[in-house]
Amino acid sequence: MGLPNIDASKLTKTLTAKPKELVDQKKLAFGKNFTDHMLCIKYTEDGGWEAPEIKPYGPLEIDPAAFALNYSVQTFEGMKAYRSADGTINLFRPEKNMQRLATSSQRIMLPEFDQEQFLQCIKELVRVDERFVPNEYGYSLYIRPNFIGTEDNLNLQYSREALLYVYLSPVGPYFPRTVKLHANTKEVRAWPGGVGNFKLGGNYAPALRPTMEVVREGYDQILWLLGDDHYVTEVGTMNFFIFWTNSEGEKELVTAPLDGIILPGVTRDSLLELARKWGEFKVSERKVTMPEVLKALEEDRMLEAFGAGTACVVCSVSEVLYNSKTYQIPVDPSNPNAVFGPLTMRLRKELLDIQYAKTPSPWSVPI
Ligand code: COI
Repeated sequence: MGLPNIDASKLTKTLTAKPKELVDQKKLAFGKNFTDHMLCIKYTEDGGWEAPEIKPYGPLEIDPAAFALNYSVQTFEGMKAYRSADGTINLFRPEKNMQRLATSSQRIMLPEFDQEQFLQCIKELVRVDERFVPNEYGYSLYIRPNFIGTEDNLNLQYSREALLYVYLSPVGPYFPRTVKLHANTKEVRAWPGGVGNFKLGGNYAPALRPTMEVVREGYDQILWLLGDDHYVTEVGTMNFFIFWTNSEGEKELVTAPLDGIILPGVTRDSLLELARKWGEFKVSERKVTMPEVLKALEEDRMLEAFGAGTACVVCSVSEVLYNSKTYQIPVDPSNPNAVFGPLTMRLRKELLDIQYAKTPSPWSVPI
């Protein structure tokens, strides 16, 4: 018989003695408030997975020599729980997050885990902290699974102990307006043969300094380019989409392909599938370069650009700074105050309607 895997039927619960007060929903910023409880599941190479525990939210006890703290043996996910108009709570395609967490953890030698059982435990955590799930469209409960190597060992091998833990944060919009991007021609986020396609914390830390430089200049995020031809890759917090009339004169929605440097976003995948189902224009996953974008802008062929991700949902991009020049990206030519372009708005609405179970869909999974 093998060692025990995660078993949701063994989950234990210790409830908090000090329930938190709910924050006024309208004041919810992204990722600043946390709920009463968290889920922890420990692993050791000799003993396998221990019984999952739901316990009061609080600090973790972790050895200073742990792999996670020294060598970034850490991966995470971003998911959300949505309250629908009838009060029921759903997750959105959670099996995609479980699969991606498994793929990311393999890359950094963290142990295998039973994805279905882990998901059952996450659902139970959301049920325990159900009162924190906002009831307003556009607001949700962000779910952050984390997987870390906890063995205290400075040998650069692999962590023989690990911790899967999950905490929850009621959230409002990440970007409550259109987004301004600064195309980075100095640093790169990811490169062929690297790890940009895995959701590792180690991909995010090196983006902080360059990001803060552009934030100080009034931009929201970096548009990461790669190579001498300035291949337009992604934003780091979100995948990047362009809607244009391409150089062949066809209407096309295009985003970078999953070529090893792009994070395989669940929102990215869902929008591509929705747009393909409509069948109204070409939908492509292919490489586009910054000079092609500039040419499209010059020739008035650019229709919209937007970012997409779990945290930020779908948000229009209104400006890109590239090689010290500012380029305005059309949002909605019929409305100068528009926060979303017409296609961006349509995709966003279709997605949110599924997430809030207004439109029935197998993507919506009850807790
Ligand atoms: C998410 O969209 O869930 C993410 O993990 C992005 C994060 C940088 C907020």
